[in-house]
Amino acid sequence: MSTPWNAPIEARHSAPSYVKIRSSRCATACGRGVWRAQQKAEVIELVLVTGATGFVGRALLPQLVEGGHEVRCLLRPSRRSPRLPKGVPVQVAIATLDDERALRAAMTGVDMVIHLIGAEWSGSASEVLAIDTAGTRRVVEAAREGGVRRFVYLSHLGADRASAYPVLKAKGIAEEFVRQSGLPYTIFRSAMLFGPDDVFVNVLAALVKLVPGFFLMPGDGRTALQPLWIQDLATCIEWSLADEGFANRVISLGGPEFVPLRTMAEIVMETLKVKRVVVPVRPVYLRGGAWFLEQLLPHSPLTTRWLDYLAMSRTCELTSVTGYFGLMPSRFSTTTLGYLQNKHWLPELGRFLLGR
Ligand SMILES: NC(=O)c1ccc[n+]([C@@H]2O[C@H](COP(=O)([O-])OP(=O)(O)OC[C@H]3O[C@@H](n4cnc5c(N)ncnc54)[C@H](OP(=O)(O)O)[C@@H]3O)[C@@H](O)[C@H]2O)c1
Repeated sequence: MSTPWNAPIEARHSAPSYVKIRSSRCATACGRGVWRAQQKAEVIELVLVTGATGFVGRALLPQLVEGGHEVRCLLRPSRRSPRLPKGVPVQVAIATLDDERALRAAMTGVDMVIHLIGAEWSGSASEVLAIDTAGTRRVVEAAREGGVRRFVYLSHLGADRASAYPVLKAKGIAEEFVRQSGLPYTIFRSAMLFGPDDVFVNVLAALVKLVPGFFLMPGDGRTALQPLWIQDLATCIEWSLADEGFANRVISLGGPEFVPLRTMAEIVMETLKVKRVVVPVRPVYLRGGAWFLEQLLPHSPLTTRWLDYLAMSRTCELTSVTGYFGLMPSRFSTTTLGYLQNKHWLPELGRFLLGR
């Protein structure tokens, strides 16, 4: 059970009350977990997760709790119930990104911060720059004042402050704030993530399913992505917390194969059991269409940021996850894409239009 909405933030817990008792299920279920359990001081750490209601956050919370962490979610004020995973015990702290006092209060007693707030799927290009850069700077400052021991930031492969693409530019600037903060940090530069509730693959699947007869493919379909299964990323983040070797490092992570967009679309079609003629379209035309939809709809399913994902190949070592964590990541296949099956795509589209 989550603590109630608006629950006051608990004061810092004294160390002795945090003696961790690992469940035997976890200790026997995960080989590497056993190793970690033996290495780690048996003191429960308080981890503040920002962006906990997002795609990555919701996948990460159960992993953190299962890993023995106390979790606090930083949420923004809203009249809607927060979309947190059910049955995962977490504390909540409420703050907007421009409320420095509330951010500082949220850091009370926090050992580690995992910063996942980002506007790439929900905001305009200028909102992305504001939220991902200025927002990150404020969270970093509050974390530094709070004496946080590790700041984990989820960035993108290809992050570069000189990039022409808003998300990559914003991530490049935000990474700089994190690196220069003086806080021990870990920056994960992730490839495109897929899993239930992702945006990228769900939009691809909606385009495949809802446009009859053909699939309008941006460009020649040779742009290579390296899809990473969301649970694999969540495992990597959780395991990295216990390992000081990940402090002050930028770690690139991607899935076990390079998948060109055309192949990705074909795997999605196979999963959905539909056949479409693939029609390559010059990206500039699709960009125009996406821009038009963005002006027309408050929450367009097809955005220029979605197309940015396909603007260039962004990959890293194929063995990145195995090399850093000894974990064999899942492939992008009809099996892992099972979450696309049995969806009703028109209501799904409606959900997108209403802002998920
Ligand atoms: N998904 C990927 O493939 C991928 C790959 C690499 C890196 N990343 C990065 O990982 C992070 C999480 O991605 P995601 O896919 O989980 O994104 P997401 O599903 O869109 O979640 C975004 C989160 O940020 C919060 N947020 C947005 N604007 C906010 C604001 N102004 N104030 C407070 N909270 C705000 C949202 O809260 P509400 O629920 O209240 O809106 C939500 O919890 C992002 O920084 C993203 O750029 C994602």
